[in-house]
Amino acid sequence: MSYRALVVPEKGARAQLRDLEEPCVVPEGARVQIEVSHSSVNYKDAIALTGGPGILRSAPLVPGIDAVGTVLEGSAEWSPGRRVLVNGAGLGERTDGGLAESVVVPAAALLALPAAFSGREAAAIGTAGFTAALALLALLRHGISPDSGEVLVTGAGGGVGSFAVALLASAGCRVVASTGRAEERGPALRELGAAEVVDRTQLAEGGKPLQSTRWAAVVDSVGGVPLANALAQTRYGGVVAACGLAASADLPTTVMPFILRAVTLTGINSVDAPTLARQQAWELLARTLDSATIEAIAPRTVGLGEAPGVATDVLAGRIAGRVVVDVRG
Ligand SMILES: NC(=O)c1ccc[n+]([C@@H]2O[C@H](COP(=O)([O-])OP(=O)(O)OC[C@H]3O[C@@H](n4cnc5c(N)ncnc54)[C@H](OP(=O)(O)O)[C@@H]3O)[C@@H](O)[C@H]2O)c1
Repeated sequence: MSYRALVVPEKGARAQLRDLEEPCVVPEGARVQIEVSHSSVNYKDAIALTGGPGILRSAPLVPGIDAVGTVLEGSAEWSPGRRVLVNGAGLGERTDGGLAESVVVPAAALLALPAAFSGREAAAIGTAGFTAALALLALLRHGISPDSGEVLVTGAGGGVGSFAVALLASAGCRVVASTGRAEERGPALRELGAAEVVDRTQLAEGGKPLQSTRWAAVVDSVGGVPLANALAQTRYGGVVAACGLAASADLPTTVMPFILRAVTLTGINSVDAPTLARQQAWELLARTLDSATIEAIAPRTVGLGEAPGVATDVLAGRIAGRVVVDVRG
């Protein structure tokens, strides 16, 4: 039996739609074979699909860090026919990923598809929503509550940022959304629950390591100078969750926010999150997100063959919201 997959044939090459042979052996228990129904085009996937550097550890490889589908070959726990999802866990980086009709995944990263979501909705949430949920759980674990004060979300127009706005607002926080597309994305971000939308240029200029304080907490997906400024503006005892590097991997700051204001910088890693964290994050997502919110963040679905074109648009900043891939479409 063969299945369709997007394959990056060698490092630096663009993905091609190919027919692959089903894996002969699925090692019992530790790995599970899934018939994929949906995936998505995350920022990492966009880089991989277009032959960009730093994502695929080997080639040929199938990109796709998200997969939603049905168990084909399973284990005692994951019997055939169960609806499941997986985010990260090396898919589309270390091993073949979800942009295919079939994928073999580590059982430890597998979750049952929450009853609240369709397959499309789970892929629409994907790693972006999962990461935003991990960030909110980290803030709560560090004692942040709606009474703590305002929460800043940077890169709010992106996937992680948009889900962070929706989750924080649902949790009762006053959310300030920072975006470079205030005019275009402002109304949608307010609809998701942002109390205020600010232009990202406010955080773009390098400043002092300690500035006038405003934020009780921050969910940051851009890194670089904006993250340094967010730390500098965080109140005594505040918490900053670092999720991404859309602006830069640098962090041009000093120890001052940490030693003079007791600010906590907490890192978020969705790829290697342990099973319990995955369960808690998806329980939070299932409790919080309704279909209208998911549709507002991820209105578009494409077929497998269209994903490389979408990837080019993602990298060029031409995409508003997340794009779901119906791998059988
Ligand atoms: N830690 C993890 O486990 C994890 C998981 C998922 C993603 N990530 C990382 O998180 C980041 C966001 O991912 P995503 O899926 O949300 O990507 P995305 O949908 O492409 O959103 C990224 C957003 O970052 C903002 N941005 C881009 N360039 C910028 C710049 N030069 N200066 C300031 N802001 C800039 C833009 O927001 P506006 O349009 O609002 O300005 C953009 O929409 C990426 O770096 C990704 O690799 C990490």
